[in-house]
Amino acid sequence: MLIMLLGPPGAGKGTQAEFLVKNYNLAYISTGEILRSAVKKGTPLGLKAKQYMEEGQLVPDDVVVGIVKERLADPDCRQGALLDGFPRTVAQAQSLDQVLNDLGCKLDAVIHMAVEEEELIARLTGRRVCRDCGATYHIKFNPPKVRNVCDQCGGELSQREDDSLATVTERLAVYKKQTEPLIDYYRQQNLLHTIDGNQDIDAIAAQISAVLDKLSQ
Ligand code: AP5
Ligand code: MG
Ligand code: ZN
Repeated sequence: MLIMLLGPPGAGKGTQAEFLVKNYNLAYISTGEILRSAVKKGTPLGLKAKQYMEEGQLVPDDVVVGIVKERLADPDCRQGALLDGFPRTVAQAQSLDQVLNDLGCKLDAVIHMAVEEEELIARLTGRRVCRDCGATYHIKFNPPKVRNVCDQCGGELSQREDDSLATVTERLAVYKKQTEPLIDYYRQQNLLHTIDGNQDIDAIAAQISAVLDKLSQ
């Protein structure tokens, strides 16, 4: 099973992914996470990506396509994988089709999480992430049991560099211009499943599960 989560910054892709990879035993492929970890370690990839990410712009297509191509060849992807935040441009989607064709597999579903802009801004500016394990929280909507401490590993929570209001505004504009065309791209391929992402976390998880359970019947 190869599933993609498509949605604007703050839609809840990472939040739903935490649950989906566990429940459906999927390998997790988040280009955002891979890039953030490269930036943190200061690898050549990280040095290339850093400025784009800080400004809320997309990292060049050839860079992210290369990352995903390599990642899909890992053994854990054979049992199935969940793509979070990739593809993000029509060019990336076309490259993915080619890569999958070469590997002899295909996308099974694109879960499109639609959320109102005002809600996205509230979610992103209140987000907190564990420095150690990456678990995601929200100061109001999904607070940890102890303030600023990760429930899962006890690590310290921090704010993502690109979650300032100015960068969030830019990321939302970039999504509209460069990523939204993918909604039609995947609708035309009959892969699109749109979920109302304005609901609470559990209600969204239940709707996505209903789509995936139907696929695997
Ligand atoms: P990436 O890391 O992919 O960020 P994004 O797409 O902007 O999405 P986010 O991670 O911000 O949001 P999310 O949907 O995962 O929401 P979350 O679950 O955390 O990319 C970062 C950057 O990397 C890009 O800007 C770009 O530079 C680069 N990049 C990555 N991929 C690329 C690609 N393919 N091509 C080029 N460049 C690329 O939830 C958000 C908050 O809301 C959390 O606090 C959460 O607790 C809360 N929340 C979640 N669900 C709910 C709910 N239902 N109700 C209330 N609150 C909720
Ligand atoms: Mg995310
Ligand atoms: Zn943690």
